[in-house]
Amino acid sequence: MGTYAVTGAASGMGAAVAARLADDGHTVIGVDIKAADVTADLSTPGGRTTAAREVLDRAGGVLDGAVLAAGLGPAPGRDRSRLIAEVNYLGVVELLDAWRPALAAAGSGRAKVVVFSSNSTTTVPMVPRRAVRALLDRDVPRALRTLDRFGRMAPTFAYGASKIAVSQWVRREAVTRAWAGAGIRLNAIAPGAIRTPLLEQQLATPEEAERIRSFPVPIGGFGDPGQLAAWVVFMLSDAADFLCGSVVFVDGGSDAWFRADDW
Ligand code: NAI
Repeated sequence: MGTYAVTGAASGMGAAVAARLADDGHTVIGVDIKAADVTADLSTPGGRTTAAREVLDRAGGVLDGAVLAAGLGPAPGRDRSRLIAEVNYLGVVELLDAWRPALAAAGSGRAKVVVFSSNSTTTVPMVPRRAVRALLDRDVPRALRTLDRFGRMAPTFAYGASKIAVSQWVRREAVTRAWAGAGIRLNAIAPGAIRTPLLEQQLATPEEAERIRSFPVPIGGFGDPGQLAAWVVFMLSDAADFLCGSVVFVDGGSDAWFRADDW
């Protein structure tokens, strides 16, 4: 049995993953802004430092895996773009920087990491690449200067940029000596619309609800958190030993619908 850190463990897909891992007999260290083993606000540098350190303390310096599910969706509000950038991007990369030695300590090929991306990475048009580059440079104020020019669309683009940046980070890092070379498998999952509180919040805004409901999903409807958790648990298992640097789309066919020939 292993020890797994799960961010966003209080709700939605993070909670579903944490429950499955616990049911399988693993030790789960949940991180969230509320109702978790480690409560920390991942939108602040101090919160990220606390989360990183407390997880390492509880794990005794060895982690068999980590799931980075904490995140915020697009919603109105000027500060929303900053929160999205800090939680969805820095809340992943800074924690993984800190946890990497503990993951390597699990032994070669054992530790596995799953980061939550989104199919918005390939289905939301015109996400400004300057904002993505700024996030990859970990320069949130620079990203916000670009994003704020887009007015009401800023949070939507902030979300897309955060998920593109985190996917690029995963693919760049996964294949390096620091990750693959240290025996750690680093991958991402890109869900489509999944019925969680995050999606419900978006559906509560009439403009967003219309956009979401008219979005092409070839198999129809929304996904269920349990379905996605099953994929994540598989990606953490020995069966996923040969998976490295992949972004796995589990989205009812939307990504294929938009870019079947994009190869
Ligand atoms: P959710 O809203 O049910 O869960 C997200 C969790 O993140 C919550 O427990 C929340 O408290 C936590 N969180 C938010 N801000 C935080 C902060 N400042 N500090 C610490 N924790 C914080 O959302 P859901 O849907 O389960 O999302 C999980 C991941 O999946 C997110 O990264 C989201 O962007 C991604 N995703 C969700 C999709 C959906 O349709 N639900 C689609 C594609 C990706």
